[in-house]
Amino acid sequence: LADIKDDLEEVLLTPEQIQTRIQELARAIEHDYAGRDVLLVGVLKGAIMVMADLSRALTLPVTMDFMAVSSYGSGTRSSGVVRILKDLDTDIHDRDVLIVEDVIDSGLTLSWLQRNLRSRGARSVEICALLRKPEALAVDLDVRYIGFDIPVDFVVGYGLDHDERYRNVDGVGILKPEVYS
Ligand code: PRP
Ligand code: MN
Ligand code: MG
Repeated sequence: LADIKDDLEEVLLTPEQIQTRIQELARAIEHDYAGRDVLLVGVLKGAIMVMADLSRALTLPVTMDFMAVSSYGSGTRSSGVVRILKDLDTDIHDRDVLIVEDVIDSGLTLSWLQRNLRSRGARSVEICALLRKPEALAVDLDVRYIGFDIPVDFVVGYGLDHDERYRNVDGVGILKPEVYS
């Protein structure tokens, strides 16, 4: 079996770079949410790695929940039409919610999700995303915590997939065009 990393054009972020940045984000979050009861909401499936590492980097007593939404369908472009595939188990009325995401591309998923969660009467709904592609942003999005701004390349790894593969790569890499073309 060929090594999964053979499909990568280049490594964009090493596991070490990611962990260092996650520790920094955790310190900022601890500072901002000191004394509060944070609910981390991970967006399945891409957010699994950030959720696992960020939650363990935090010294706050957090709780966790997950949502699954569909925005891309079978296409590779975001449609802006979001459907809830799995909703929260938690009543977030009066809660401080921190949405945890792997990547912000067009921003349409999070724009919709932040509005949706705010409409449920949460005290606050902020966003923490490991990656953002500023040149792909199609909406004005209020993001409190961001790991890295990256170019608009096809990136995979650390939760990010192409056709459900590569999520378990430990860093973030740019996929070779021949893999998806
Ligand atoms: C990806 C990614 C974000 C979203 C970003 O999820 O994990 O959730 O798209 O795109 P946007 O900013 O253009 O809305 P995807 O729908 O591929 O599902 P997945 O997390 O299960 O891979
Ligand atoms: Mn996702
Ligand atoms: Mg995906």
